[in-house]
Amino acid sequence: MIEKKPRIYTYPDPFLRQKSEPIESFDESLCDLVQLMRKIMKETSGIGLAAPQIGVSKRIIVVDDLTLEVSPEKRVLINPEILIFTEQQGSVEEGCLSVPEIYAPVKRPVGIQYRYYDENGTCYEGEDGSFWARVAQHELDHLDGILFIDRISSLQKRLIRKKLQKLRRISRD
Ligand code: CO
Repeated sequence: MIEKKPRIYTYPDPFLRQKSEPIESFDESLCDLVQLMRKIMKETSGIGLAAPQIGVSKRIIVVDDLTLEVSPEKRVLINPEILIFTEQQGSVEEGCLSVPEIYAPVKRPVGIQYRYYDENGTCYEGEDGSFWARVAQHELDHLDGILFIDRISSLQKRLIRKKLQKLRRISRD
């Protein structure tokens, strides 16, 4: 599936703005890809990673269960959907491997009702109001071409404007 050594795609790479394709077959190549994503997440000390961040336009998310102390079935999310968001929102500082060295508070619903599959095709449904729900929302955004910097206030946007400019400049060089 991937020939070259995988790298983390960073802002403003247009690849990060694509809508990813759902997984249709739960086969060995999917398991290999999940393994690879987990390895990259650990190497880069990420708490979550979405496939588009390594240049794969597929609806796959991995979440670091050690940092978040969640049960094992919550660390691979394939074709994830959020069925219901709580009305209550909370603001927490976020960062992203694809937007290096930039952190800003992001307002999101504190709880979700979710559905997703693991790499073997087992379906999971439930509710979560922990930090995992936030990570899941952040990573699911990646599958739809959305970055956390799209969801911050205009004041926060002004505060990180120079840093974003720098990232755009680096990408041109
Ligand atoms: Co991210």
